[in-house]
Amino acid sequence: MPRLSVVGAGNVGASAALYLAEAELGDVTLVDILEGVAKGKALDLLQAGPVRGYDSSIEGSGDLRAIQGSDLVVVTAGFPRKPGMSRLDLLKANADVVRGVAQAIRDYAPKAFVIMITNPLDVMSYLTYRVTGFPRERVVGMAGVLDSTRFRTFLAKEIGVSVEDIQAMVLGGHGDTMVPLVRYSTVGGIPVETFVAKERLGEIVQRTRDGGAEIVKLLQTGSAFYAPAASAVQMAESILKDKKRLLPAAAYLDGEYGFRDLYLGVPVILGSRGLERIVELSLTPEEKAALSKSAEEVRKGIADLALEAAPAH
Ligand code: 2OP
Repeated sequence: MPRLSVVGAGNVGASAALYLAEAELGDVTLVDILEGVAKGKALDLLQAGPVRGYDSSIEGSGDLRAIQGSDLVVVTAGFPRKPGMSRLDLLKANADVVRGVAQAIRDYAPKAFVIMITNPLDVMSYLTYRVTGFPRERVVGMAGVLDSTRFRTFLAKEIGVSVEDIQAMVLGGHGDTMVPLVRYSTVGGIPVETFVAKERLGEIVQRTRDGGAEIVKLLQTGSAFYAPAASAVQMAESILKDKKRLLPAAAYLDGEYGFRDLYLGVPVILGSRGLERIVELSLTPEEKAALSKSAEEVRKGIADLALEAAPAH
């Protein structure tokens, strides 16, 4: 069984551990500085196994060394948003947490694939890439699948069709400037524009952009967790089973889409080598402008990181 670790045993981490176990993708170690929370949730998840029908082992630990030898690490550690906060508002607090986690991954799980979930997503993915020194193939960020699954949910409801038949693509940073690509979104292969009027599509795009904030506002004490965790596990599954799914993910760009040295959501193919390919779509001038605006937002976040502490590759 592959060795999987989830760092951070909050709602996102525990949900990710559950979905990883249910898909029997490997044995799971759940790590949190709150040792009792990690151990308690791990034990609870283990005890759900006989009823839910999974044999994955699930262990909890308060020590990052427990990720030793992991094949894949999902990072959820950090603080969630409160109402009124943007994801970038979390930057300083979460950079400290993620820097420490990235150092532990570098030292104890040097061969691992890393799937970042902590916000601000694109900036935390970049920080992890720099701190671990791993090739970009092994550090990807989860955002596009989440943003797309929200878009798909809203479209399915609007059209009155199964969510399974909706395909959607969302590019850009995981923030208010994300770029849901209506042109590349379909219902059973048929463009969504055939089913939904332009104006209404605009409203659905906006609801997708605000999808995270809508939930933060309702929960009051934190942010979404089921859909984020499920999205990360879909990425993990594609890597661990070498499925080569084409999914949007935050990837290190080295010239693709005209950007260099930053993480941004783009379509990628995930397989046993991790990020195996970045797929470059042709974009309209409007889409390009929206992506540039989004990239600019991520760049600002990266500039705010105290990167002197992280050696360049
Ligand atoms: C979201 O969009 C927490 O960023 C995450 O819900």
